[in-house]
Amino acid sequence: MKNLPTMGLSLALVLVTSHALAQPKAHQSSGDWAWKDAVQAPPKNWNGPTFTLSDQYPKTQPSCNATNCPWLNIAIPMGVNFDQPESPSWEQEQRYQQYIMAILDYVKRGQSADLNNNDGFQTNIDGEDRWFHIPWMAFDQRTGREFVHGLTNERTASLGDFFGKPWQGLHSLPDSSAGYETWAVGMYNDIGAYTIGQGWDPAGLPVISQQNGITTTKGMPFAEGTVVVKFLFSTVPPSQVAYLQGSPKWQANRHRQQDKQYLCQRQVQDVHLVQVDVAVVDKRSPTRWVYGTFAYINRNGATVWDNLQPVGLQWGMDPWTFPAVPQAASLPVQQSVLNTQIRAFEHFGCNGRLAGPVDNKQSSCLSCHGGAYANQAGATFEIGSYSPPIFGFDGLCTQFSQDNVNYFQTTQFPQDYSGGNYPNLMNLDTSLQMQIALQQWNLFEQAGQPAQCEDK
Ligand code: HEC
Repeated sequence: MKNLPTMGLSLALVLVTSHALAQPKAHQSSGDWAWKDAVQAPPKNWNGPTFTLSDQYPKTQPSCNATNCPWLNIAIPMGVNFDQPESPSWEQEQRYQQYIMAILDYVKRGQSADLNNNDGFQTNIDGEDRWFHIPWMAFDQRTGREFVHGLTNERTASLGDFFGKPWQGLHSLPDSSAGYETWAVGMYNDIGAYTIGQGWDPAGLPVISQQNGITTTKGMPFAEGTVVVKFLFSTVPPSQVAYLQGSPKWQANRHRQQDKQYLCQRQVQDVHLVQVDVAVVDKRSPTRWVYGTFAYINRNGATVWDNLQPVGLQWGMDPWTFPAVPQAASLPVQQSVLNTQIRAFEHFGCNGRLAGPVDNKQSSCLSCHGGAYANQAGATFEIGSYSPPIFGFDGLCTQFSQDNVNYFQTTQFPQDYSGGNYPNLMNLDTSLQMQIALQQWNLFEQAGQPAQCEDK
């Protein structure tokens, strides 16, 4: 939770004295919502782990050096070579594995060997804030942060309603019709957190700035050395998925289930780690980013970290590969590389591109994240025109179409979304958490409070 400057505090006190008795809950300020830890506070008798938002963002831009960003010293092949059948395979080219493992080493520094529920994921290592969270993610009453570990619900139906299109599913396990929810928490390292901190003021309002003719949140784009990590947990019981045996079991104040439906009502229940996503800024990449993912697959490793198997890396969207071109003209992918040796159920993304175990397999990491834009007009939040249809559209990945051409273009900050249908949006340099935060702030501006969660 943010320490508000003294001015804000005294103002808040004045408001409390004049309104508190009449309406105890009304008039929560933008800052209250933005820097809130969780949708619901823990009950009084709760003595388990409790999530606190890490929001003391660095005030100056930290920089990268050989010891804190060692992967930047590893030159993974990111060029395009159509004389080769496809980019060198994961097995042929050791540097892919070295690159992603160097990122994992950085992520696990100072964390417990078994990533147990009590320790969770520490944001403060050796007395220093090392990892930071995004504001505004405890606003949405259905999907917002829960109080044990700050997980948010990635259930997709509400967003499907939002776009008014058939929903392709953001994160779904193979038998998701039985209803397994995904709950996740993402963090930025100090280099990335500098950008986040520039973009939000203490009152929880976005700071929009114009630099070199580009309008977006202040501090964009993320600097080289930025690392983002996201831990994805599932409600699936490991008894149903053999390779999840021994996967970290965390408590989460998550939706209660009744028959095949998840209710608004929350209760502390278990979830298990299934996937760990990473993303780093690397200027050698044509998108400026390299995305990678790990699947939890038990192979009797000494620690939990040893059971995280790399699934692959992605640095572009492969615009020369179907469905960004017709099937007959399709060339093999060059901007994703997949570890096909994983010996467990695994799927990848659209046509050889990278997606994770619980991601939509018609999609790919960077195609979805490449749609991280927000409306410049701010308060005029128009449903559907606010951002490109990154979560799905008719024919996603299955037919050559203009939507697919746009979705699978390799772009980078500060370009507009391809296709020309979304001019004048602010480019958020692939951060979908920034997009969600801006969306939530926007809803607050309109209604002054979140919509109540209602059971369907
Ligand atoms: C269909 C869309 C979609 C796909 C595919 C997808 N993501 Fe995300 N991702 C999201 C959304 C939405 C968020 C923000 C919500 C959240 O973190 O709770 C997000 C958040 C993240 C974050 C936290 C930082 C941020 O940008 O908000 C990382 C890191 C990340 N994803 C990595 C990956 C990786 C790696 C892959 C592929 C293995 C992937 N994602 C595939 C939609 C997607």
